[in-house]
Amino acid sequence: MTYTEQSFTFPEMTGLSQKQIEAHLKLYAGYVKNVNTLAAKVDEYKKDSEINAIALSELTRRYAFEWNGMRLHETYFAALGGDGAITGPLADTIASYYGNIELWKNEVKAMAMMRGIGWVLLVLDRATNTMKNIWVSDHEVGHLAGCDVLFALDVWEHAYLLDYLPAQRADYVAAVFANLKWSAVEERYTK
Ligand SMILES: [Fe+2]
Repeated sequence: MTYTEQSFTFPEMTGLSQKQIEAHLKLYAGYVKNVNTLAAKVDEYKKDSEINAIALSELTRRYAFEWNGMRLHETYFAALGGDGAITGPLADTIASYYGNIELWKNEVKAMAMMRGIGWVLLVLDRATNTMKNIWVSDHEVGHLAGCDVLFALDVWEHAYLLDYLPAQRADYVAAVFANLKWSAVEERYTK
């Protein structure tokens, strides 16, 4: 199967420049391209899997990086371009866990300040219908098996370096929350 890059359009967003978003979308496109390239290479190497055993192992391991880079960016971009309001059944459920939605946001913001590159994800364990915020390093290290990603906050420096200094990560995170299109997150919860 060949994967196709999704297209996203955004209104003017305070705190997130078009230049930054365009550069980030190009990086996203790279993940989609690499997913397809890797899959094709694996198919090719499988034709002589003994000789290509080491290369196959490395490509197989790398696949999760490219794949998750593709999917997490799709989740991230889909939830940008809104008015920042967090309302709906999922928002109500989160608020009931945390006391109120601001306390949930505060936890996400605190996790987003952790050193290193990666993501803060809100994930849903459908087996128990419970949610939690988790940290994922790179794109693939730290996922919880069986959990669906509802919300993805990219805190790789490439997500904000055209608009902010590395020390201003908190300002970037605030800008993401200010431009959040929460309906996309709610949709992932209800579907
Ligand atoms: Fe990114």
